[in-house]
Amino acid sequence: MDFLELVEKRYSQRRYTAQTVKQEDLDYILKCARMAPSAVNKQPWHIYVLQGEILKQMAPIYRRETFKEAPMCLVITGNHNESWRRYDEKDHCDIDIAIVTEHIVLAAAEKGVDTCWVCNFDVQACKNLLQLPAAEEPIVLIPMGYAPKETVVPEKKRKDIEQIVTYLT
Ligand SMILES: Cc1cc2nc3c(=O)[nH]c(=O)nc-3n(C[C@H](O)[C@H](O)[C@H](O)COP(=O)(O)O)c2cc1C
Repeated sequence: MDFLELVEKRYSQRRYTAQTVKQEDLDYILKCARMAPSAVNKQPWHIYVLQGEILKQMAPIYRRETFKEAPMCLVITGNHNESWRRYDEKDHCDIDIAIVTEHIVLAAAEKGVDTCWVCNFDVQACKNLLQLPAAEEPIVLIPMGYAPKETVVPEKKRKDIEQIVTYLT
């Protein structure tokens, strides 16, 4: 599978079976996460792997079927005390977390593990549940598992290359 095939294969899966993610696949995914680049190599991220009882407590934090069904959820946090700030004070934390997250979902797709980026969740409730310090922000949730057999993979709706690229000389 070349890179284009991999990025075409990954899609946001919002329904899951109860089948657990193989530990060897999770280990591979986390190794790929670790290799993500970050501004000034600060690596301001932490990845919490939630399963079992604590996963049930995530249900009110993102009120979707996804959380009731997915056997695992990663919470990816960014530490604003560790992330790089540019000369104009722009905090690069979100950028770094986006990169590590995309490594995770692409590595998962390679292994046939389904995922979905989730940012529209109750951040404060998540912080409380994980007892995170003030500077550590939960930025993305990634439910992880396997799609039910009957799943129809949605069509990728994307802008055309001409709409998103401008060649300048
Ligand atoms: C930063 C970000 C935040 C997202 N947040 C959510 C979310 O809260 N809930 C959700 O169902 N999907 C969420 N998505 C998934 C997008 O809706 C999805 O990636 C987009 O529609 C393209 O579809 P695809 O992932 O299947 O290619 C998010 C994606 C990104 C990149």
